[in-house]
Amino acid sequence: MTGPSHPFSHRHLLGIESLAASDIVRLLDLGDTFLEISERAIKKVPTLRGRTVINLFLEASTRTRTSFEIAAKRLSADAINISGAASSTSKGETLFDTAKNLAAMRPDVIVIRHSSSGAAHQVARLVDAAVINAGDGTHEHPTQALLDASTIRHHKGRIEGLEIAIVGDIEHSRVARSNLFALTRLGARVRLCGPRTMMPVGIEHLVGEELRERVSVHDRLEGALEGADVVMMLRIQKERIGGVGLFPNTREYSRYFGLSPRTVAYAKPDAILMHPGPINRGVEMEPAVADGPRSVILEQVTRGLAIRMALLYLLGAGTTATAEA
Ligand code: CP
Repeated sequence: MTGPSHPFSHRHLLGIESLAASDIVRLLDLGDTFLEISERAIKKVPTLRGRTVINLFLEASTRTRTSFEIAAKRLSADAINISGAASSTSKGETLFDTAKNLAAMRPDVIVIRHSSSGAAHQVARLVDAAVINAGDGTHEHPTQALLDASTIRHHKGRIEGLEIAIVGDIEHSRVARSNLFALTRLGARVRLCGPRTMMPVGIEHLVGEELRERVSVHDRLEGALEGADVVMMLRIQKERIGGVGLFPNTREYSRYFGLSPRTVAYAKPDAILMHPGPINRGVEMEPAVADGPRSVILEQVTRGLAIRMALLYLLGAGTTATAEA
């Protein structure tokens, strides 16, 4: 593996919205080159030796937190993990103070997940380290969109011209927002589908007027899936909804918006089936499709690790680290 041929001009990764299509393609290409390291017997390269990565996860995570930790370790960085319950935020410390205190220990990268939209931006303003947004409230989850785009590109050979359905709780989904930016910028047409109570009014305008025609909104699953190349199912974000009843009951939600062997038949026969995880089996996706031959859910996880290695490499190496592996 050799170093990048073009500089990555961003100091942080706070969202997909601020990335050009060329930045996204660059990250996908670089992510592909990092896949191979995880197939080696010794899964470690010296690229980030001497660098420090802090994973500050103030909201629950399995995939993102673990893959950032493994990514840092496979690049030989020192990885420190902080979770909400085990941090002084549980004693009332503010994000401001947490960020300033972590910065005082001179990390090179801070990866942050937080329940508040804008938390990663706030931290980026306070610290010298590169900041990676690992999910902030309902705002963005940029590395999820990158790993999703990587998976789609691998299976379909392209993203431009694809019909991609994103189904579920669009209102509360940072995954939907980041994917909307990424996939439309790469030339796909995105169909957003969910109950009206979970569909923000005017969401099709989020991408800007020049890409607006690439976004359509659907309140029926059949129309959204008809001829789709990719079907991405989303979890109902109960932790962000609170006690508000946005649909009559889980069974009814599943009947109208769940992916089952019956409803998947609306999509193209070679459509790939995706989910960012965690899955609520039997709600948004039946096990027969989640575990079926067209599901690429676990490949999303594998590619997530490679994408996060690529990002840590780009943002954490500074100017002196070697990319020789
Ligand atoms: N997709 C995703 O962000 O999963 P985790 O919440 O487990 O990190």
